[in-house]
Amino acid sequence: MTVIIKIEVIYDGNSYFLQTTKHAYANLMVLLLNELTDEDFGDCKGMGKCGTCLIEILEGNDDLERQDRNEETTLSKMKINQSNIRLACQLLVDESLMGIKIRVI
Ligand code: FES
Repeated sequence: MTVIIKIEVIYDGNSYFLQTTKHAYANLMVLLLNELTDEDFGDCKGMGKCGTCLIEILEGNDDLERQDRNEETTLSKMKINQSNIRLACQLLVDESLMGIKIRVI
């Protein structure tokens, strides 16, 4: 059965509703880059090092586990310690994003 993932995204002051399927994109950064953002988003192509793919989780699952040490290091260098601010490249497009509302920072 195909799992449909629906995400609301605030980008540049506008609200967008994106719909995709599980693992259709390598990660959330690639989805946002393909569908919405400009080419400066995701500068390091998902290595978790550039910090250009920041998102804020506004509603839904704001406790997605951080699994990547690069993300911890990058966010700490940027002095970000809120758990709802994440690197989109470190979030898989799967059920954990179902119904989530995010803002591209
Ligand atoms: S793409 Fe560089 S940190 Fe996410």
